[in-house]
Amino acid sequence: MSNLKKILMDKKTCKSIWFMRQAGRYLPEFREIRSKNNNFINLCLDSELSSEITLQPIKRFDLDSAIIFSDILMVPFALGQNVKFVKNEGPELSELNLDIFLNKTNEEFYETLKPVYKAINLTRKKLNKEKSLIGFVGAPWTLIVYMLNLRNGKKIDLNRLINKKLNLEIIFEKLIKFINFHIKEQTKAGADVVQIFDSWAGIIPEKNFNDFCINPNKEIVKFCKKENISNICFPKGIKDKYFDFVDDVKPNGINLDYEVDPIHARKKIKDVVVQGGMDPRVLLKSDDEIYKTATKYIDAFKDIPYVFNLGHGLLPETDPDKVRKLIKFYREH
Ligand code: CP3
Repeated sequence: MSNLKKILMDKKTCKSIWFMRQAGRYLPEFREIRSKNNNFINLCLDSELSSEITLQPIKRFDLDSAIIFSDILMVPFALGQNVKFVKNEGPELSELNLDIFLNKTNEEFYETLKPVYKAINLTRKKLNKEKSLIGFVGAPWTLIVYMLNLRNGKKIDLNRLINKKLNLEIIFEKLIKFINFHIKEQTKAGADVVQIFDSWAGIIPEKNFNDFCINPNKEIVKFCKKENISNICFPKGIKDKYFDFVDDVKPNGINLDYEVDPIHARKKIKDVVVQGGMDPRVLLKSDDEIYKTATKYIDAFKDIPYVFNLGHGLLPETDPDKVRKLIKFYREH
């Protein structure tokens, strides 16, 4: 059993380290491939290149887990929306066509994402058995934020959601079905852990929090448990509700964001494996500051199973040498 899966399933205190966005723009070897592949979606659909990118941070740093190079927006893409990445604006999706969306079949969805499953399969064969291969999905709410283009520049405009007058219940239901299907196919292809990213959970209005965040995540975690799939939730930005989330959704692992105080979290959180928390912006600071912050997290969770990671993805401007030093520090600590 891989190192990360062992921690999640047996809840043994043992060490493990990986980073969200460990395969990405801060690595010159990624930028090299990216410069020759203008279309990001097509890059995700190139199984050989996707597998190569997935393994780049493993080769460079010998991390304990690899996360498949893909994107949460591959699900809306497979459900019929075009996905474009506008420089400095973030992703832009073509208008959601409910007819196409609601009529998609599992077979069509699978056919579109076959290269992703092939990339997982290729990567699993090249990866040491001790190392985890992490598959992932976006939670429904976070996908909806992109699918309905609720972003207004850098901000999210929830009035846009109200103005659309859509039957959200049906959209959530359909998304959960395909998210679960995607989870299952990724694990069939060789992923042994899945992470569920709810990156925009923090902007859900209080009155909708259960319907838009808790219940969908709970349904996905329930599916994972039924299928015996190790899972980690990341409901970013939900502040004090992190603890109710864990009690209610009951994932195997919970990724903290950088707004949650680790000492407070240690007191409140029980029966779950904790992952991450450190602000990725700390990696832009001096070595001493990096080590000091890392120590705060390592110490806070020293008596429970803790997976070292960050409170969000590595920033593109991160110096890979700082990442190397942090991994070395963690392993020697
Ligand atoms: O290394 C890894 O973590 C694996 C690959 C991965 C990517 N995206 C590759 C990527 C993962 C796990 C994701 C998840 C993802 N994608 C999330 C959830 C996590 C989070 O960051 O909150 C979200 C919200 C997305 C949607 C998305 N994809 C955005 C907003 C953007 C553009 C801006 C950004 O944050 O980078 C992307 C593009 C993207 N996905 C890149 C990479 C390496 C950059 C592509 C490039 O321009 O070269």
